[in-house]
Amino acid sequence: MENFIFNIPTKAFFGKGQLDNLAAGIKEFGGSRVLLAYGGGSIKSNGIYQAVLEQFSKAGIFHVELSGIKPNPPIEDVYEGIRIYKENNLNFIVAVGGGSALDAAKAIAAGAKYDGDVFDLISGKVAVTNAAPLATVLTMAGTGSEMDMGGVITVGEEHKKYAILHPLLNPKFSILDPEYTYTVPTHHTMAGCSDILSHLMEQYLRPDEDAEVSDRMNEGVMKVVFDNAPKLLQNPQDYNARANIMWASSMALAGFQFMSGKKFGAFPVHAMGHELSSLNDMTHGITLALITPAWIRYTLKVAPQYTPMFARFARNVFGVTETDDTKAALMGIEQLEGFYQAIGMPSRMGDAGVEESQLEYLAEKATEFGDIGTMSPINKAEALEIYTMAW
Ligand code: NZQ
Ligand code: ZN
Repeated sequence: MENFIFNIPTKAFFGKGQLDNLAAGIKEFGGSRVLLAYGGGSIKSNGIYQAVLEQFSKAGIFHVELSGIKPNPPIEDVYEGIRIYKENNLNFIVAVGGGSALDAAKAIAAGAKYDGDVFDLISGKVAVTNAAPLATVLTMAGTGSEMDMGGVITVGEEHKKYAILHPLLNPKFSILDPEYTYTVPTHHTMAGCSDILSHLMEQYLRPDEDAEVSDRMNEGVMKVVFDNAPKLLQNPQDYNARANIMWASSMALAGFQFMSGKKFGAFPVHAMGHELSSLNDMTHGITLALITPAWIRYTLKVAPQYTPMFARFARNVFGVTETDDTKAALMGIEQLEGFYQAIGMPSRMGDAGVEESQLEYLAEKATEFGDIGTMSPINKAEALEIYTMAW
């Protein structure tokens, strides 16, 4: 098992009515002049915006707004947030929304305390050394941004996705009210479930199998997602299903898995999925559902020494009883594909609007900074093979 430091610095206020803790939380961390960052307006139509403003007004908290943060947030939204933060002499950030609003807010938090171009920090050319304090009010479960140290920002004409990562970017606290996710459209709810699963699978399906505590926890959280996503298809206002999916989102990237005895390394499915979003703005969770089965099939083919691990995944998560490892592993993939289909994810990249002629470009971009493999090398040629299998 790898060495690790276990420290999750984000306080979670979980459950109905927890927004009541917002103002006190802001003040606890010295906030009085707040940048309120949010997306395209869903929080206005479902009442969350008004509820947040009420909290500010009761506590006498001054605020300025950055609205209209786009999905797969572009760096231009980050620049705008930094400008507003600095010009108004603000001292705290509250992000309300899904991963896009939260991620933009994290990059703003880093850029607000940096004198140069925030792209230096986003690209990793310069390390983050300071950040404005940030809290989140989560309205869509999936990315884990509410509990982790990362943010994903889209940059430039090619829409390349960069991850800005630093423990200083962990929210000081996050308000997690499952009722706030009732209005998320089914399509996005299910894409969020796919994202949670991918975070869990990309940490579980790694060579270091001796991190048993992480792996057993991981299997449990995966089962929660497999069990509860279909409940939300039936009833989007099933509180317990919303609550379990929301907490699964937070737990999947909070550090229990990848920081607790597993090697920290590439997330190949995410790297390949991000290129699909870059190409045509595809929803993040959908890209992962498209790539994951192909990536597992490919890995089984080129790195058969990991077959027992895939068989364990099939048995412990899906209850497969087959004793032959190869057969069990394949049955696990079929179960996974069946799940994606049941929750309405497209199963082929071709059906999702990707042209066959674009696959080589995708493979080139996914590996432009080097090999993205975990169990087997994935350079351009291998990435092309996986994209082709998924197409
Ligand atoms: O913009 P608004 O109007 O708020 O609408 C959003 C958006 O259109 C809507 N929505 C959110 N909450 C809602 C709601 N609609 C109705 N009711 C609500 N309660 O949902 C749409 C999608 O929102 P978005 O924030 O884009 O989705 P998601 O949470 O999936 O975030 C995706 C982004 O997160 C990044 C992805 O790459 C992508 O850019 N990721 C961030 C990670 C992290 N920080 O650790 C890890 C992930 O792997 C991922 O890469
Ligand atoms: Zn993800």
